[in-house]
Amino acid sequence: MKVMPQKNTKKAYIKTFGCQMNVHDSEKMAGILRDEGYELTSEHKDADVIIMNTCSVREKAEQKFFSDLGRMKHLKDDKPHKKIIATGCIAQQMGEDVIKRAPHVDMVIGPQNYHELARLLRESENGNGQGGGAGKAAGIAIEDNPALAEMELPTLRTKGPRAWVSIMYGCNNFCTYCIVPHTRGREKSRPFKSIVEEVRGLSGQGYTEITLLGQNVNSYDGAMGKEGDFPALLEALDAIDGIERIRFITSHPRDLSDRLIESIAGLDSVCEHLHLPLQSGSTEVLRAMNRRYNYAEYKDKVDRLRKSIPGIAITTDIIAGFPGETEENHKSTLDALAEIRYDGIFAFRYSERPGTKATEMEGGLPEKVRLRRLHEILDLQENITLEINQGLIDSIQEILYEGPVEGDQDRRSGRTRSNKIVNFRHTGHIDPGALLLMRITKAHKHSLTGQIHGGSCE
Ligand code: SAH
Ligand code: SF4
Ligand code: F3S
Repeated sequence: MKVMPQKNTKKAYIKTFGCQMNVHDSEKMAGILRDEGYELTSEHKDADVIIMNTCSVREKAEQKFFSDLGRMKHLKDDKPHKKIIATGCIAQQMGEDVIKRAPHVDMVIGPQNYHELARLLRESENGNGQGGGAGKAAGIAIEDNPALAEMELPTLRTKGPRAWVSIMYGCNNFCTYCIVPHTRGREKSRPFKSIVEEVRGLSGQGYTEITLLGQNVNSYDGAMGKEGDFPALLEALDAIDGIERIRFITSHPRDLSDRLIESIAGLDSVCEHLHLPLQSGSTEVLRAMNRRYNYAEYKDKVDRLRKSIPGIAITTDIIAGFPGETEENHKSTLDALAEIRYDGIFAFRYSERPGTKATEMEGGLPEKVRLRRLHEILDLQENITLEINQGLIDSIQEILYEGPVEGDQDRRSGRTRSNKIVNFRHTGHIDPGALLLMRITKAHKHSLTGQIHGGSCE
């Protein structure tokens, strides 16, 4: 029987920009809202509360937020009680200025303060601080929160076999281009035991794949009790029954230790995929970026990974057109891509972020140059990815089944342990989370096509 929502149930709409940390933070805010009696809606027009969970890593993400927000102006005309809340990294960085620029925003809550969401909402419902209009906000919460890592917030996860789990917050690295240490604060590791308990709970609820989240997971330190570092955490999670696959993002190349390589190689549930952001193939540019490794050291780690973990997929992030990057430096990045042959990359043109060191550097490059270099990078990589994927044709791969592709019930999708998407046609029922053996029949730039090979592998 379909349960009809009660007529007066309050509704909340959450829109998420940016990285997986934001995606997971939105799940936490959804959990808080559920506990406050809200149900989620996919229509912002119906919502009593709208949350815009923002990202400020590049200027484009910021522009997108303000243009979406602009279109929400009229929503309050006939529903003045509606609350619009800005959260995430722009909220943290701009604070009250978000409201100065968009006076229909009622609250601004930074990523270290989501525990305040319920209280601020209740206060605003009780008439404290009528938000919207005249820049009067119902609440601004952007203080540094040293207790963040010990706080356990309720979480309403999206359905499916895969779950995100935070293991640390913030970042201490201060790469010169990056806003994240300014918006997420200093690095804080969650207690070892809380993480293990959470993952045990997730296994009990039927989740079979977890992705551990942190800006720099390799410097996870076990927090208060110093029970263990990141490889020790992987070992503890690998021992939990029912968790078939463990992934993690992001690894900083400087902190990638031999012990971690051994863990990936030796622990059954830790997947053979590593996202290892290079950013530039030029040692000179890496120095200006404050990455604290050079290309030779990075390449040596890649060689060790490939030697110890046959078949490991390696992906990366690249920034094109950092201030002062010469044609020769750019060529070093292209050479690095050709030499390393990544399974896939995310490449971005450099974007000035207020308050970061790189904005004060000389040698800023015209947008045209940044864009041209970005396209050269993407063009080269597309061919490499396609060639690597073609090499998988006729191989047998284990996939974790996720479900039908939107809009086509018979087109199904899952991922290999190396994180490649495999689509296949099937008409019968398959439980999401099932492990299937697939024979790969076709290769594309962003996915593979396959056929079920001899049923389930369990
Ligand atoms: N903690 C992760 C990355 C977080 S940001 C790490 O250290 O790898 C994700 C990616 O966005 C970065 O790897 C970088 O490639 C890109 N990025 C960050 N700041 C940027 C900027 N100002 N301009 C362009 N790309 C940027
Ligand atoms: Fe940004 Fe560098 Fe920290 Fe990654 S490691 S979040 S790129 S400062
Ligand atoms: Fe964006 Fe903040 Fe993530 S700036 S990439 S949402 S940490």
